[in-house]
Amino acid sequence: MGCDLLVTGGKGQLGRSVLALAAQRGLAATGVDVDDMPLEDRGAIQRTVRDLQPAFVLHCGAITNVDGCERDPLAAYRVNALATAWVCEAAAAVSAGLAYVSTDFVFDGAQHGTPYAVDAEVAPLSVYGASKRLGEEAVLGHGRDDFYVVRTSWVFGPGGKNFPRAILDRARSGQPLKVVTDQVGRPTMTLDLAEALLDVARLRPAGGIYHAANEGQCSWHQFACDVLAAAGMGAVAVGEQVAADLNLPAKRPAWSVLDTDKLAAVRGMRLPDYRDALRRHLPLDDSAKEAAARAAADAAAPSDGGALRGKQY
Ligand SMILES: NC(=O)c1ccc[n+]([C@@H]2O[C@H](COP(=O)([O-])OP(=O)(O)OC[C@H]3O[C@@H](n4cnc5c(N)ncnc54)[C@H](OP(=O)(O)O)[C@@H]3O)[C@@H](O)[C@H]2O)c1
Repeated sequence: MGCDLLVTGGKGQLGRSVLALAAQRGLAATGVDVDDMPLEDRGAIQRTVRDLQPAFVLHCGAITNVDGCERDPLAAYRVNALATAWVCEAAAAVSAGLAYVSTDFVFDGAQHGTPYAVDAEVAPLSVYGASKRLGEEAVLGHGRDDFYVVRTSWVFGPGGKNFPRAILDRARSGQPLKVVTDQVGRPTMTLDLAEALLDVARLRPAGGIYHAANEGQCSWHQFACDVLAAAGMGAVAVGEQVAADLNLPAKRPAWSVLDTDKLAAVRGMRLPDYRDALRRHLPLDDSAKEAAARAAADAAAPSDGGALRGKQY
């Protein structure tokens, strides 16, 4: 008899929230990450899935360092695309359902003003987006009714290295803030996303693509203002800049608001507004323990920021 759920990327920002929620729901869930099941290793993937015999695989593991992917495309394609094909192959071999967590970065933002529906044309601007799109194709290519691509966006969650955390750390240390005004999307909290993902695993709707994001939409600049307001620091000034000022290696879509209607119809509810999510998130995130863990992780990180693995929002 196997387990209910296998979660790849189990030590990541989303994977940890999924595992915590699965435990609350009384599911037998196992998380694996780079030490237990390196995604570069097809044999390890096959063995792990065969041994655990999960009813459902939630594939959260990925290289999420968007600019790092531009520097090392091969690693990005290997982990985000090829390994996804291997995870699908292993899941299909034990007749497990599967959800692959994908990204708004499969879109180019040209559809400005209209939320992206699940069947909107994809046109990734970056290696990260293209590698995740190939991962999507690996999932969809199976044509299975219990295989899902769940796209999400602008993810933040307790203990994660994410945008709200970066804004608060800077504001609290008195550093000036300057944030991009010309990219608009939907911030999404891991705990709310985890609810949606576990509902997909439970409800088993028709296979295919779903969009899961908190309600509301904003620019990164507006999001920074919302983060500060939620933390009682609304008086802190947030300067404005445009994305081009940053000259980052990876291009991001200027508009990536996901249309979440299809998932809402399946679940009978939408994810809460992102400002509500922020208010719930901040107290959870703010423990001294997590601050210490972050400091230790930052101290251990290479100073040039050149490591490909490691979270980037
Ligand atoms: N974060 C966002 O804003 C965002 C937006 C849209 C979609 N998504 C998608 O959501 C999913 C979860 O993202 P997240 O925010 O939880 O990212 P995360 O915190 O970076 O989690 C990803 C996990 O995968 C692990 N991983 C990386 N390379 C691996 C490898 N070769 N073998 C095994 N495990 C490996 C990472 O380990 P290390 O940390 O040690 O590298 C990490 O624990 C990803 O699929 C991502 O593409 C994220």
